[in-house]
Amino acid sequence: MLSKFRRIVVVVLLLSCAVLNAQNRAKTVDAGGHAWWQHAVFYEVYPRSFADSNNDGVGDMNGIASKLDYLKDLGVDAIWITPCFPSPQVDFGYDVSNYEDIDPMYGTLADFENLAREAKKRGIHIILDFVPNHTSDQHPWFVDSKSSRTSAHRDWYIWRDGKVPGQPPNNWTSTFGGSAWKFDPATNQYYYHYFYAQQPDLNWRNPAVEKTMFDITRWWYKRGVSGFRLDAVDILFEDPNLKDNPVTGGRNAYGDAYQEHKYNTKLPEVHQALRGLRKVADEYNAVLIGETWTKDIAELNLYYGKGNNELQLPMDFLFTTVNKLSPTEFRKQIAAINSASGWPTFVISNHDIARSYDRYGDGQHNDDIAKLMASLYLTLRGTPILYYGEELGMKTTVPTRREDVKDPIGRSGWPKEKGRDGERTPMQWDESVNAGFSKATPWLSVPPTAKTHNVADESKDPDSILSFYKKLLRLRHTNKELLDGNYLPLNQNDQKVLSYLRVYQDQAVLVALNMSGTPQRVNFELKRNGFASARALAATGKSSSQGDFVTLDPYGVFIGQLER
Ligand code: NOJ
Repeated sequence: MLSKFRRIVVVVLLLSCAVLNAQNRAKTVDAGGHAWWQHAVFYEVYPRSFADSNNDGVGDMNGIASKLDYLKDLGVDAIWITPCFPSPQVDFGYDVSNYEDIDPMYGTLADFENLAREAKKRGIHIILDFVPNHTSDQHPWFVDSKSSRTSAHRDWYIWRDGKVPGQPPNNWTSTFGGSAWKFDPATNQYYYHYFYAQQPDLNWRNPAVEKTMFDITRWWYKRGVSGFRLDAVDILFEDPNLKDNPVTGGRNAYGDAYQEHKYNTKLPEVHQALRGLRKVADEYNAVLIGETWTKDIAELNLYYGKGNNELQLPMDFLFTTVNKLSPTEFRKQIAAINSASGWPTFVISNHDIARSYDRYGDGQHNDDIAKLMASLYLTLRGTPILYYGEELGMKTTVPTRREDVKDPIGRSGWPKEKGRDGERTPMQWDESVNAGFSKATPWLSVPPTAKTHNVADESKDPDSILSFYKKLLRLRHTNKELLDGNYLPLNQNDQKVLSYLRVYQDQAVLVALNMSGTPQRVNFELKRNGFASARALAATGKSSSQGDFVTLDPYGVFIGQLER
């Protein structure tokens, strides 16, 4: 009798577990099996440059909050805010001195909470930028670490004796120039910094570091954050024996000999850490986006993890290495990312990569080319991340004088490396002084193109880049084929027009992108394939479809629903 009762209890428990699991799954994926971040459009905000509410020349939390309606109207579902934590701002926030607060320059924690609340009201998720590899040298952990060889936090960073007196432990160079080791005369040891000397690397082999970093993500999830973009994840670990890196010949912009970063990047231990971060993220239905520079898709696959247990959205930067309008090159890259083991993530520029407007622009058709590029990354299968201002056709404005450069690598690498100021200039809101970004002199000057490419003017112009982005984003949210459909390349030998179908069940959308400066007429043999026509969903200029054919303006776009 008792054993029968036990069996019943076990069955009831198992059944309720199954129901709970099903409920959890139901919460995390939609009816088609997609998680929220697969259908979301992400938008990267560089907080210094987005909107300045208190007129001190630097953007802030309240500034971002004041623009949420703009972002909602644009069609954004999630904003990734680059680091906004207290920081000496040597690397503009990527040198964190307190992971659990907001830099006073950007406002207060209460301002952040207000932003999160207001965003939530509009259905916009907030993604923060987590910098797990290094802190600022002003972080209390490092201050303590540096204070003595026996301090509580000594082993939170990577301290070593010199190879011989006066020589760093090995030949590793910082990616921002010079040796990756800085000597501390007080304790007579060197500490390791992959980036600036003011950004000492944390020692992820220390379990206390790992636990603290996991807990920090939890702290933010509890404050309504929906995920993180993880900075520099491939360099969390270094070879414990500190072997010298192989030198490959030649010198970089800082005058350092090129080396293969064999012993200080992409160590297998990284994946253990990512699995841990993911476990915490899963408790909150959160998403992890990776700054994942990889040499090929096989390497990118490692970041999705076995059975997708690491990053949901490792960024495919290989896509940004196609630096010309080449259908062949893009086809190759799209096919590669579609063969990846996880959901693709597309970016075409960010705060470290020159803007797409001038990377692809020919100087004459730049606005058309901006629409062409938008049509590409917003109609592919995957999650797009827009960099602020791309929707306006903002241009990279590189400083012309060394004394104007704000990004330290631009000063140390001048003139070969001019830094990243060019892609970080203030958002162009209107034609007023400082493009409506601030009433004070902005931290970086506003480019002259703010007069022609700004939110206010482009909102009124149905032909503007902004209006086209809005149209595409509306389509992305409503068209099942564009959301979930498979990618099917067409006319793969065409050197001028990149074209593909997005197919969902028995429906298909045709995308045709003319990557050349001459008009094109392409036969898609629609009738032979059972379709009567392609009904325009979005097109630029006079680009259109008739019967089997699509006619495209120079750099023209045609996106059409195939009809039977
Ligand atoms: C990558 C960030 O995107 C970049 O801006 C920063 O300088 C480095 N990581 C160091 O954190």
